[in-house]
Amino acid sequence: MQDAWAVAPDSVPLGTREVQIWRVTLARPQSEVARLKGCLAPDEETRTARFRFAEHRRRYIVSRGVLRAVLGRALSLPATEIRFQYGAEGKPALAAEHQSDVQFNVAHSHELALIALGRGPALGVDLEYRRELDDAERIARRFFSTRELTALMLAPAAERNATFFRIWTRKEAFIKATGKGLTQPLAAFSVMAEDGLALAHVEVEGTVTCWRLIDLFPHSHYGAALVVWTDGPEIAINSYQY
Ligand SMILES: CC(C)(COP(=O)(O)OP(=O)(O)OC[C@H]1O[C@@H](n2cnc3c(N)ncnc32)[C@H](O)[C@@H]1OP(=O)(O)O)[C@@H](O)C(=O)NCCC(=O)NCCS
Repeated sequence: MQDAWAVAPDSVPLGTREVQIWRVTLARPQSEVARLKGCLAPDEETRTARFRFAEHRRRYIVSRGVLRAVLGRALSLPATEIRFQYGAEGKPALAAEHQSDVQFNVAHSHELALIALGRGPALGVDLEYRRELDDAERIARRFFSTRELTALMLAPAAERNATFFRIWTRKEAFIKATGKGLTQPLAAFSVMAEDGLALAHVEVEGTVTCWRLIDLFPHSHYGAALVVWTDGPEIAINSYQY
C-alpha cells in the first residue's frame, strides 16, 4: 500500500484485486473549473445549469470533471470520450460501449469528493462532512438497525457524533454498492455490532454477506466508508489525492 492520499503519479494502473480511492478537493482555481466544465457532456451541462447556487455548480463540475479524468486514465481515453449509463435508481456506470470491467462510485459532501475505482466487483463509497446534528437520535431510530441504534446509544457522549457518521457512511456505502438506493430497507441490515465494534462485512437480516466494509479517513472533519463485494483473495485499497 502506498502512502495514504499521496499525489498520484501520471500513470496509475488499476490492478485486478485493487480498489483505488481518489480524494478530490472541490475548491479549485476558476481556470481549472472552466477546463473541467469543458469536459462535460450536454446532459451534465444541463444538470449544472439547474443548480441555483454557484458553489453547488462548481462542486458538481469539479466532481464530474475529475471523475471523467480518472476514468479516462483508467481506460486510456480522453475525459470527453467517457460515456455513462444509469441503473434503475440512478447509479452511474460506464456505458456498455466501453466493454470495460471498471466499476466506480462517487460521493461528495461539502468541499470534498471521493471516487472509488475497481475492476469487476461492485462497490460503493460514501462521504459525509461531520456536522453537529440536533436530530441524530431521531434519524437513527428511523433508519438504523436495532444493533446499530444500541451501538450509538452506548457510545460515550464525546464519541456519539463520530459514531453516528461512521454508521451512516457505512450504510450509505452499502446501498450505493448495490445501487438500490433508498428502495433498500435501511433497518434490515447492520454495519455495526451492538457493542460498537465495526463489522467486517454487512449483515443482512443477521446473515453475514460478501459485502466487505472498510472505513476511510480522508480528512479529520469527514466520515467515509467503502463497501466492496469480495468472494476471493484480499483486495488492496490504495488512496490518492487528485
Ligand atoms: C444516491 C444516494 C444513495 C446517496 O446520495 P447522497 O448521499 O445525497 O450523495 P453522495 O454524494 O453520497 O452520492 C452522490 C453520487 O452517487 C452516485 N449515485 C447516484 N445514484 C446512485 C445509486 N442509486 N447508487 C449508487 N450511487 C449512486 C452519483 O455518482 C452521485 O453523484 P452525482 O450527484 O455527482 O451524479 C441517494 O439515494 C440518497 O439520497 N440516499 C439517502 C440519504 C439518507 O437518508 N440516508 C440515511 C442513511 S442512515
